[in-house]
Amino acid sequence: MNLQNGSSDDHRYSLELSDEELKRYRWMATTAVESEGEMWHAAGLQAGARVVEIGCGPGAILRELAQIVGESGIAVGVDADPLAVSMAQQELRGFDHADVRLGLAAKSGLVPESFDVVMCRHVLAHNRKDEGERILAHLVSRLVPGGCLYLADVDYDAFRYSHSEPDLNDLEEHYIKFQRARGSNLSVGLQLGDLLRANGLEVERYICGGPVQQLPLGVRFPGWAAREAMMAEGFATPSDIERWNAAFVRQEALGQGPLFFPLGLCIAFGRRV
Ligand SMILES: C[S@@+](CC[C@H](N)C(=O)[O-])C[C@H]1O[C@@H](n2cnc3c(N)ncnc32)[C@H](O)[C@@H]1O
Repeated sequence: MNLQNGSSDDHRYSLELSDEELKRYRWMATTAVESEGEMWHAAGLQAGARVVEIGCGPGAILRELAQIVGESGIAVGVDADPLAVSMAQQELRGFDHADVRLGLAAKSGLVPESFDVVMCRHVLAHNRKDEGERILAHLVSRLVPGGCLYLADVDYDAFRYSHSEPDLNDLEEHYIKFQRARGSNLSVGLQLGDLLRANGLEVERYICGGPVQQLPLGVRFPGWAAREAMMAEGFATPSDIERWNAAFVRQEALGQGPLFFPLGLCIAFGRRV
């Protein structure tokens, strides 16, 4: 395993962390609490539970999980990116029952059968299909009997926004091509139920779609955070980036973000019986 620079042969995450990205993650976390709260509870997230978030990024969701399980519970975050780990540690400061560690999703170093809930959000889409299968097998083995594996991921092509900026559609098209060329499984949202079943879990919920949301001002699309990686791999030029930025600036000058229709946001959880 090579974890230098937050990457391994199997993990080449492309979205660069920044204050702007942190804002996007916090917005996603607030939205998830509102729209998924009932499912989190049904999956076993309650005071005293032991939960791990695999691929926790800068810790916005993990902070919510730590609040729910409280001091009688345990909240652990794992990520392969050292910058994400240090941002998550900062986000979780003051939570003595929380811990954030560097590790790979398919080789976390966590003790087998030690969590009531294993959560994994927006990670599988950034990995190849075969790596996703390894990740799932590993995560299931960390669950206690009766515990739940909770997955949230995308069918990326199904996302829609209300803006009328051709350059923002162009950014999305470049981003999708770039991710597909890397082998990222951008349609994994459609496979979540099969992945849970293939690993012996009983699927208790499987939904796609969610409430329409207004993007807060200053929150840009994931592809924007991948612009440097897209340039490095020949999927964007400096003039593309200027065009995309100008389109965001025009959009932001309207004083409100576009509506986001999360048709491709899929959530599933399965229980180990
Ligand atoms: C899109 S972010 C999601 C963060 C968080 N789960 C959330 O939903 O707010 C994906 C995170 O997963 C991590 N990641 C992706 N593939 C990984 C792997 N194979 N092993 C460990 N971490 C991985 C990335 O470093 C990144 O921080």
